[in-house]
Amino acid sequence: MDESERQFEDTIARHDRIEPRDWMPDGYRRTLVRQIAQHAHSEVIGMQPEGAWITRAPSLRRRQVLLAKVQDEAGHGLYLYSAAETLGVDRDDLEQQLMSGAQKYSSIFNYPTPSYADVGTIGWLVDGAAICNQVPLCRTSYGPYGRAMVRICKEESFHQRQGFELLMTMMGGTDEQRAMVQESVDRFWWPALMMFGPPDADSPNTARSMAWGIKRHTNDELRQRFVDMTVPQADALGVTLPDPELRWNEERGHHDFGQPDWDELKRVVSGDGPCNAERLEHRRRAHDEGEWVRAAARAAGEASR
Ligand code: 3HC
Repeated sequence: MDESERQFEDTIARHDRIEPRDWMPDGYRRTLVRQIAQHAHSEVIGMQPEGAWITRAPSLRRRQVLLAKVQDEAGHGLYLYSAAETLGVDRDDLEQQLMSGAQKYSSIFNYPTPSYADVGTIGWLVDGAAICNQVPLCRTSYGPYGRAMVRICKEESFHQRQGFELLMTMMGGTDEQRAMVQESVDRFWWPALMMFGPPDADSPNTARSMAWGIKRHTNDELRQRFVDMTVPQADALGVTLPDPELRWNEERGHHDFGQPDWDELKRVVSGDGPCNAERLEHRRRAHDEGEWVRAAARAAGEASR
């Protein structure tokens, strides 16, 4: 092990930060580019499912809140693309890899949002799961990624609260509104558990990412943390989580719960989800329609030189 490798290993062992100018193993860099790019893509694609409800929100207040949330997600994507660029990759190239299908985004955004209750459920469950997964990433070993996470997690907390408050309001409404919330939760519960990735035993990346301090907890640990956090919230809302195996296990000090359909996750991740084609088509169209903005920014940049 040469001096650079020893310094890298010592920094990781001290739970300290690796910075862009530091030497790092190629595998460490590749893993970070893959994960940060996927995370950024997820934030950008994640604007679509809820964005479809901005013009149909039932009140000005709900529209303002949803607009602010979707705008936040765009900003999260930009922070994360900036973090990825510190690893020597080009943002335009990452976007091309997303649009060509070469790089992924979170499976959760490939599910439809036919009901307004989905806006609340996404805030409560999807952003809730994101918080469980992202708070530990504030301590990830790569400096720019961890610092981007601090700002993002602060905004995710608002996202989760506004979703929960929306559902609480609907649960205090009519029977039809309560039924809308339960139907939405039934559709999103299992895909939300899949956001944490496959079981640790089937994860090709977790062990290495834990050793490098990229991940601070495994997929199963964070999934368990999310279930334990969400069950009392579901009780407070008055909704049932659609898992007959869900129960408190006093001995473990955690909830026991059923297993998501991992074949479904594999299908959705490989492009065969309910909305994969629609999401990528929308992203490609937005990219094409935005070419004039990029051209204007380039011209302005050249003019200011
Ligand atoms: N959706 C899409 N791909 C997934 C996935 C999912 N739910 N779960 C796993 N995968 C992919 C992984 O990217 C990996 O891909 P590879 O073929 O390039 O190696 C493969 O399946 C195996 O999974 P691993 O668990 O081994 O992979 P990771 O170690 O990368 O763990 C992860 C997966 C937990 C998602 C991790 O990448 C991670 O923590 N990413 C950062 C957080 C993130 O991206 N969250 C997604 C949602 S962002 C969001 O919710 C925004 C909020 O505002 C709503």
